[in-house]
Amino acid sequence: MKGVILAGGFGTRLHPVTKVINKHLLPVFSKPVIYHGIEKLVEAGIDKIMIITNPQFIEGFVNLLGSGQDFISQKTGKQIQIVYGIQNEPSGIAQGLWIAKDYVGNDNCVLYLGDNIFEDDISEYVKQFKEGAVVFLKKVKDPKRFGVAIIDCNNKVIEIEEKPQNPKSNFAVTGLYIYDNTVFDKMIGQPKSERGEYEITYINNLYIKERKLKAVKLQKEWFDIGTFESLLAASKFYETKSKTSGQEIKN
Ligand code: TTP
Repeated sequence: MKGVILAGGFGTRLHPVTKVINKHLLPVFSKPVIYHGIEKLVEAGIDKIMIITNPQFIEGFVNLLGSGQDFISQKTGKQIQIVYGIQNEPSGIAQGLWIAKDYVGNDNCVLYLGDNIFEDDISEYVKQFKEGAVVFLKKVKDPKRFGVAIIDCNNKVIEIEEKPQNPKSNFAVTGLYIYDNTVFDKMIGQPKSERGEYEITYINNLYIKERKLKAVKLQKEWFDIGTFESLLAASKFYETKSKTSGQEIKN
């Protein structure tokens, strides 16, 4: 299983800060946002990760992460491998994943939107994955702001609605997916959406047609640090967590 972390995008909601600093390099309490994604994938046993970002920010990532020397593989006890891909223009999530096509090769992949932070451990889902695709969902109070998934009694996704006026469920689609290798074939001939992007929802809908899109409901905290409010909320959460875990060690 390969890991693909998308760390490009426009970051307009965090302007003016993100005019000069990539969103994924901003701190969430004591470490850069991107560390959370890498650590989550490493925890799940993934030790080969491609980070994809815009040309103007690639240097910051290489300076910060190098070849992955700060992250240790659970399988080998040695450092993981981090490589980089460049997305010339932020043309959508699916287009970002397409850049990793040759890197993923014949493997399956976890697609991680780099501005997401998850507290759930996803190791079991990665280990058990065989075919089709998995989307990770989180119950939210305000589903109108999100892509919303409708699922059947077998946890198969039957529909994803983008920012619905009248949501049929309150399960938001988060920025974490597992795809089998057919994901790249599904992108061939993909049209741009009305907003001019190659949408990942288009790909997920093709898996739905095959009845191969499985849903996993996350139980713990999920942050999408696209706004100053959510960036601050995540920082506060990890500050509190660091104090609590400090107490546990002292006791
Ligand atoms: P978004 O938060 O949807 O978009 P954005 O980062 O451009 O921010 P804003 O809406 O404030 O302008 O992106 C979700 C994640 O996907 C984020 O981690 C950036 C990444 N991304 C890419 O890497 N390439 C892309 O083409 C897009 C659209 C997003």
